[in-house]
Amino acid sequence: MDLHLANKVAVVSGAGRGIGKGIALILASEGARVVVNYVKDQAAADQVVLTIRDAGGDAMAVQADVGICEDAERLIKAAIDHFGRIDILVNNAGIVSRKPILEISLEEWDRVVRTNFYGCFHCSRHAGRHMVSRGTGGKIISISSIHGRVAKANLGPYCSTKAAIDMFSKQLAVELAPHGITVNVVAAGTITTDINIPLYKSSRPEDRQLKEAVLKRIPMGRIGEPEEVGRAVAFLSSDAASYITGAVLYVDGGYVAEGTPRISGGGGVP
Ligand SMILES: NC(=O)c1ccc[n+]([C@@H]2O[C@H](COP(=O)([O-])OP(=O)(O)OC[C@H]3O[C@@H](n4cnc5c(N)ncnc54)[C@H](O)[C@@H]3O)[C@@H](O)[C@H]2O)c1
Repeated sequence: MDLHLANKVAVVSGAGRGIGKGIALILASEGARVVVNYVKDQAAADQVVLTIRDAGGDAMAVQADVGICEDAERLIKAAIDHFGRIDILVNNAGIVSRKPILEISLEEWDRVVRTNFYGCFHCSRHAGRHMVSRGTGGKIISISSIHGRVAKANLGPYCSTKAAIDMFSKQLAVELAPHGITVNVVAAGTITTDINIPLYKSSRPEDRQLKEAVLKRIPMGRIGEPEEVGRAVAFLSSDAASYITGAVLYVDGGYVAEGTPRISGGGGVP
């Protein structure tokens, strides 16, 4: 693709591994200069930066816990201080918790909400203020999930925060449209990252069964790759998506398009 992102400056939260890394590498391959945010694993983030530089691109790593307002502000400021501006913000950082709503502790619920929803909120506000004051537009893209739309047992705070990200983004899209800033969501289906290790690497019979069930539920019959999310983000970051704002783009192999779970042989419940 040539999406003309040369010299655009992108901040990607949680970009040391997984989908965030895939997004950072794709944006860099399209010419963007990338701020690779990480919270703990500096070595992984440095490796992403090195990969981008080795390919002739420009990147830097910045530590920040995006769930903390001051950290998010420091991340955005570091990007502006180093690269002079921010054109693209990708809110990717996210965590999952697998507990029934009636049993999850308040601390764990808070931790997921703080990272997933407040992370998106803080970074969007700090970057949004910068984009508005610069007056040359911008792109904000947040990574949500099929589970912002389709509930899944024991993923209460995860599903709730992803749905919140979808609505927050529509709201922000409306408020920032007069400033030429677009705000969109990429809602991912099941993607091969550490979050899903049991699904694609484990040989335990129960995990194999789970993987089989997940694959049956996806019309395209396969799990997605981080780069496939990255390419959707790159599209929404580009002028090819100039009239798209407030959208939720599903990158899910058809998961949400099919309303009823599939039964073996591919037949749906009538
Ligand atoms: N993998 C999937 O199947 C899938 C599906 C739908 C949506 N998503 C979403 O995609 C995003 C990335 O998920 P992934 O699968 O790559 O997971 P991952 O665990 O591999 O990566 C998440 C990254 O976010 C970082 N992070 C966590 N808390 C942070 C914080 N407070 N501040 C900064 N960074 C933080 C982690 O260190 C990690 O690098 C998440 O928002 C996730 O909800 C993933």
